[in-house]
Amino acid sequence: MSATVKTAGKTVGWVDDRLASSNFLKRSMGKVFPEHWSFMLGEIALYSFIVVLLSGTYLTLFFKPSMIEIVYNGSYVPLKGVEMSEAYASTLDISFDIRGGLLMRQVHHWSALFFIAAISVHLCRVFFTGAFRKPREMNWVIGVGLLTMALLAGFAGYSLPDDLLSGTGLRIAQGIMLSIPLVGTYLSFFVFGGEFPGTDFVSRLYAVHILVVPGLILALLTAHLIMVWYQKHTQFPGPGRTNDNVVGYRLMPIYMAKAGGFFFIVFGVITLISGLVTINPIWLYGPYTPDQVTAGSQPDWYIGWLEGALRMMPNVEWNIFGYTLSLNILVPAAIVPGIIFTIMGLYPWIEQWATGDKSEHHLLDRPRNAPVRTALGAMALTFYILLWVGGGNDLIAAFFDLSINSITWILRFAIFIVPPLVFVATKRICLGLQRRDRDKLLHGFETGNILRLPHGEFIEIHAPVSAEERAVLMAKPNRPPLPAVEEVDENGVAMPGARAARLRTKLSHFFYADDIPLPTREELEAAEAHLRHEVEEAAPVVDEDRRLVPAHDGSVLHDPAND
Ligand code: HEM
Repeated sequence: MSATVKTAGKTVGWVDDRLASSNFLKRSMGKVFPEHWSFMLGEIALYSFIVVLLSGTYLTLFFKPSMIEIVYNGSYVPLKGVEMSEAYASTLDISFDIRGGLLMRQVHHWSALFFIAAISVHLCRVFFTGAFRKPREMNWVIGVGLLTMALLAGFAGYSLPDDLLSGTGLRIAQGIMLSIPLVGTYLSFFVFGGEFPGTDFVSRLYAVHILVVPGLILALLTAHLIMVWYQKHTQFPGPGRTNDNVVGYRLMPIYMAKAGGFFFIVFGVITLISGLVTINPIWLYGPYTPDQVTAGSQPDWYIGWLEGALRMMPNVEWNIFGYTLSLNILVPAAIVPGIIFTIMGLYPWIEQWATGDKSEHHLLDRPRNAPVRTALGAMALTFYILLWVGGGNDLIAAFFDLSINSITWILRFAIFIVPPLVFVATKRICLGLQRRDRDKLLHGFETGNILRLPHGEFIEIHAPVSAEERAVLMAKPNRPPLPAVEEVDENGVAMPGARAARLRTKLSHFFYADDIPLPTREELEAAEAHLRHEVEEAAPVVDEDRRLVPAHDGSVLHDPAND
């Protein structure tokens, strides 16, 4: 045994004597993790968060969170001699005078954008596959908390450099605070330490950005991953996969190797993009002054929907007993996001209640097999995208030479009309796909081989689906809607809770009534016999076909070599 192995063994023994960790490690390393490309999305979020932390730590060494006014004297000539806050000046220094500073700023910003994008797509994967169902509801709620914190972290970071663009964003945030009835003005004074922008805000925001929010994200993330570990990961249906097992690779060595490699790929891609593509060139915007704003200012992508909501809302303001109620801000910036996040957080329970499905689910749904959930998701995404488009109405108007008012008015109607249409279309598409799956089980798949039979008929040869695909198709769950409930007792007296029960039955019909059932066993046997017969009938022709070779004029020749 080499000296190195001996020393390693001794060290491990020393740790194990104190922490008794070897049993835990042995069990953990042997844990099986199922495989699917979409399970990488959570990993991308995790790895980009690590990159955010690493690059952010570097920036803290040089950033000065202070609003004290100084005169800039760094190496960026166009701003020399300009008065600005220390925060802005230190961001210019990081960009132009500190070695690797600009790259680190860009890595930090790009990784934050990747982080939130990955979270959003991960959320969609969890939603559309039904991974949030029992027993993972709490993890879904933690996820919603993570998303909220990530948005907050992004917004706080974006506001720190105290440039004209970030100041504009902060002014909007202050406007939103002011619109809150009764407490708005106090809240704004409390947060900004007096009149906007004051001199305290950047240092306060700095604490939120580097301490409070990342701390919360780390705590929530740890809970999130412990729960994935403890509850085990869900898996897609397939051969041998059931609600009670996990089919995949052991953590050690395959999964660890893959995950480790993947971390470096994510890190590499973010660094490459950061090295090549400018992001947030604050030196072009200039320092923040509250009386200025640049045309075409845009927030980071993940705040675009809120900006859009604000831009789309008509200018409704009420004056009640001398108090102004700014519905034009309160509704789009506080009430609508509040409703969206509440519905999002409660969705697992909403679906559970509406469908009466309280069973545990470790096998994921294919989105087509839950048409209403998929359609609701598509509807929500459409709503979100329309808001997002609204956030760029000025740029769209300038680029396509359109009227900004027309765009805004079209969006005001579209936000109510298009999402329901998308709901209907998505549901129809899902049911169409279910029908196709049923056809595949009954008639096999179309091979694309068209044959002309000796008596002149053209047929397309069908072949049975593979065992793997069959297992996937046959895993479609059968979910009948809830039966109607008795609304009155034998004496004609209304049953307690009858109204809620009726609503629930209606909702469960809404979710499950439209469904293309799997073929029955008899139908499958008859179809199999038919398919076998078809294959046998076509066999001599197929065989003949293989012996034909195309000639130069397009006709076919008999190939003696294949005889
Ligand atoms: C900081 C952000 C987040 C990180 C780093 C993260 C990370 C992960 C990872 C690595 C997994 C296991 C692999 C996978 O299924 O992709 C996972 C699973 C899960 N995540 Fe997240 N996540 C985040 C945010 C969210 C959000 C916003 C939601 C939903 C609102 C969510 C809900 C879930 C659920 C329910 C699971 C279990 C999925 C299953 O077992 O199939 N996560 N997360």
